[in-house]
Amino acid sequence: MQVLECGCGAGRFTEVLLEKEATVTSLDLSDAVDANFENFAGSGGRHRVAQADILGLPFPPMQYDIVLCLGVVQHTPNPESAIRRLWDQVKPGGYLVFDQYRYRLYRCTTISPLFRQIIKRLPRDIGLQCTAKLVNLTFPILTRLRKYPVLVRSIGRVVPVAHYFYSYPELNEKLQYEWSLLDTHDSLSDWYRHYTTVDHTRRLLNRLGADNVECWEGGNGVEARIQRAPISAPNTMSQRRLTGS
Ligand SMILES: C[S@@+](CC[C@H](N)C(=O)[O-])C[C@H]1O[C@@H](n2cnc3c(N)ncnc32)[C@H](O)[C@@H]1O
Repeated sequence: MQVLECGCGAGRFTEVLLEKEATVTSLDLSDAVDANFENFAGSGGRHRVAQADILGLPFPPMQYDIVLCLGVVQHTPNPESAIRRLWDQVKPGGYLVFDQYRYRLYRCTTISPLFRQIIKRLPRDIGLQCTAKLVNLTFPILTRLRKYPVLVRSIGRVVPVAHYFYSYPELNEKLQYEWSLLDTHDSLSDWYRHYTTVDHTRRLLNRLGADNVECWEGGNGVEARIQRAPISAPNTMSQRRLTGS
């Protein structure tokens, strides 16, 4: 399987793909490609990285059995164009799999968009320092209150600090803190954040002329899997011509 993984980051999905014996091209716009490359240095020629924009992919079209793009299209300037560019890369018979944030009511009840508007405009190092201060201040309080989920969730409406006490209780204290810091930074520093709905995405995918459009609400928002029609075998075509069907 030739897999193109767009917006690979440091490679949490690259790892899974390589374990499944795929030949993987991992692509990202940022210098995360360096971390990705180092993380999979010993993959025996089945892994390469490219630093490029999804909106200007440096490959000829229809080369990949699977194009995977998770946690990314919402952060591009134009998700529809990004999805079209990803689709161009899918071979006949191949699949595109991606997700995108969806509109949710709770997003209107939190003030985290306000924090984000400030943090994302700061120089990267200063933004990270501010986020670390916010987490260092809030995380110990949330840890003490973790027996009271309603209270912790209410604080989360006001202070945009990510926590995993309830979704990943098995993480030790150190990992709880690290995940909190990394995900709080991730959620406050993205420049673009475009939301969608299942219906909107399904309409777009139908317009692309894809076969087997599957689109549903998943953990991270809208998730979709679409297939490009396989090329019919030549003898089948000529049989059809002969029979006039
Ligand atoms: C939230 S991270 C997701 C990383 C990885 N897919 C994962 O789930 O762990 C989003 C990634 O998309 C990359 N990205 C954002 N816009 C991009 C673009 N236009 N072209 C390529 N990569 C992009 C970012 O640099 C970042 O590494």
